Amino acid sequence: MMRAALFAATFAACGVSGSAVGQAADPAVINAGIQIYKVAANCWECHGWSGQGGLPFVIGELAGQNPGPALVDTKLDRAGLLEAITCGKPGSIHPVFSREAWTPALRCYGKTRADLGPDEKLPDIQTTLTEGQLQTVTTLVQQFYQGKTMTKAKCLQYFSVAQSIVCDPFP
Ligand code: HEC
Repeated sequence: MMRAALFAATFAACGVSGSAVGQAADPAVINAGIQIYKVAANCWECHGWSGQGGLPFVIGELAGQNPGPALVDTKLDRAGLLEAITCGKPGSIHPVFSREAWTPALRCYGKTRADLGPDEKLPDIQTTLTEGQLQTVTTLVQQFYQGKTMTKAKCLQYFSVAQSIVCDPFP
């Protein structure tokens, strides 16, 4: 918790301000978050569109493994979520979404790349998100997924459609 708070403070010092803790869901922010989750960063590939976790890998050395945990079950606070999303986790396939991450300017879990051991590999950076996008997708995780149930209305919002048989089973 201490380190996560420090991370948030570092990020704030880098020009990101505002925390959505306790604020009501703003539909514009949620929709912007969905676009990042769905299109810009492909979070759904590993965490599922409904945040229940990804479909297990079927081939290769990762076969049978779940690519990403269920975001509905995460217990992290906002700073912890922001740090996990921005930095990923050494030794995991979670992407690193910021070029600043793991540098002295933006330490992750208190560390820079130079502090990582041989078993603590980080994936190469494929997609970078701006600090604003990282904040927005963190708000999405908190307000759309964490501790929440999926509803038909949220499903339709996620897929940006008026009707879908995918969404009909939800309450
Ligand atoms: C290539 C697969 C992959 C992608 C893409 C991905 N993640 Fe993850 N994510 C993971 C894995 C694997 C973990 C577990 C890391 C660990 O703790 O070892 C994880 C962990 C997390 C956690 C921490 C959960 C917890 O309780 O510890 C959050 C939050 C998260 N991801 C959100 C996101 C968001 C938001 C995006 C898109 C911006 C995203 N992830 C993209 C695979 C992925």
